[in-house]
Amino acid sequence: KVASPTKLPKIAKAAEEREAIEAALLNNAFMRNLQRDQVTQIIDAMEKKTYKENIDIIREGMDGTHMYILQQGSVKVTKGSGPDKVDVCSLSPGSLFGELAILYNCRRTATITSTEKVVLWSLERTLFQTVVKSAGRNKDQER
Ligand code: CMP
Repeated sequence: KVASPTKLPKIAKAAEEREAIEAALLNNAFMRNLQRDQVTQIIDAMEKKTYKENIDIIREGMDGTHMYILQQGSVKVTKGSGPDKVDVCSLSPGSLFGELAILYNCRRTATITSTEKVVLWSLERTLFQTVVKSAGRNKDQER
């Protein structure tokens, strides 16, 4: 049974934006191994989002729908809630986050909160999976 392929969007971006996204992808141990055309597809499909200060972009324990690359501003990573809430670190532009739930099909492992106005690139899980699977298909055809 073949699932109907998700149409991959191509969202226009400036050359500097494409370069910044690519650099962030290549910095990640998993994304670094993607094929050239997969990197291009991911860059094309990423959508720009902005959030005000003090917004939870990701909440620990939830299902993950998107992964993100931070373009502008900063976010903090925290674990736990209420009195048990612990600051883990801050992330600066060029950081990729929210990939763990997407890659490993697990719940969100931490909360990500904007500490100022942020600009992000976001990629939906189903689009990411379409890109990753398409390489598998191409490889099979090459055999
Ligand atoms: P995910 O689990 O999908 O959502 C929360 C994100 O926070 C996670 O992906 C990582 O990108 C990030 N994250 C989790 N733990 C840490 C950590 N210890 N240091 C930095 N980033 C983290």
